[in-house]
Amino acid sequence: MSKATAIAAANIAFIKYWGAQDLDRALPLNQSISMTLSECVTRTTVEHLPEEGEHLIQLAGEEGDLIQATPAFAARIAHHLSELARDLGVEGAFRVATINTFPSAAGIASSASGFAALATATTAAVGQEWDASRMSIRARLSGSGSAARSVLGGYVEWPREIKDPESAAHQLAGPEHWELCDLVAVVDAGAKGVSSRDGHRRALSSPYFRQRLNGLPRRLETVRRSIAARDLVALGEAAEAEAIDLHLIAMSSDPPIFYWRPGTLAVLERVRGLRHEGCAVYATMDAGPNVHVICEPEEEDRVAAALGEVHEVIRLIRDRVGPGPRLSEEHLF
Ligand code: DP6
Repeated sequence: MSKATAIAAANIAFIKYWGAQDLDRALPLNQSISMTLSECVTRTTVEHLPEEGEHLIQLAGEEGDLIQATPAFAARIAHHLSELARDLGVEGAFRVATINTFPSAAGIASSASGFAALATATTAAVGQEWDASRMSIRARLSGSGSAARSVLGGYVEWPREIKDPESAAHQLAGPEHWELCDLVAVVDAGAKGVSSRDGHRRALSSPYFRQRLNGLPRRLETVRRSIAARDLVALGEAAEAEAIDLHLIAMSSDPPIFYWRPGTLAVLERVRGLRHEGCAVYATMDAGPNVHVICEPEEEDRVAAALGEVHEVIRLIRDRVGPGPRLSEEHLF
């Protein structure tokens, strides 16, 4: 096979990757735990062209049209393709087309789904076997650590060991273990002002960085146990505290980073209000202003209705735990 198409989903971290020991190789300073989603996905087609040359990187439109990617986007993909080729032991160039099925201007990070799809499709295009650990390492070669988790479905921890170039994510539980919903309350659809990369770099300057790391083994254990026991209260409390810590570190970094918008606080307020009304619902945020609201399916409609009434919410994406990447015969070219 010289052409393959993969579909991979974004993920939401309950324990965040924030701060790196090696940014280029995306080697973190702490373990992270996430849930892979099912609706916010990237579809990517990769064709291996055996002759040497420039990679061709295109973006697919809804109508099947293909346009040239911007130079910055193409450069990031080309860098990952070169790393993948080296790891796969192949030569030549690649033609790539990619599309996000979630609104691209939704303010939802697409690097995890994008690089997981690229690694999966490229591996299949050159006819090599899928192997979970290897795929996680390959996705991480993009420089996006969260991509290392999106190559697996369900509940995922990364890494087993830190300070290890072979660091790879592994699955804690499959998606069938616990059907959790993630309602993404979009309060700002613009690109974030400070990249995660800069955030990782600046994190170490925060006086709270070490403090969070010191408390993390306990929080990690709580999250592992609560996933195993399907205990939403324990998971939600830990995940919400973790998200606040991430933003506390960002805001106290030098120079400081403010990802929150007024809408972020409005959604957090509504989530707390719902809890007072007896609803089991919790919030977490990645490096951006949008809020991922976590609940079980029985509460999904009630939570969606409440979030829909928050004036600052410009879009609500209803997502759920998902199965991880898959290959598809529906190629983009
Ligand atoms: C806050 O370096 O993986 O989302 O490639 O932009 O997704 P992107 O960033 P990456 O850092 C992720 C930071 C985070 C927390 C997390 O997903 O663990």
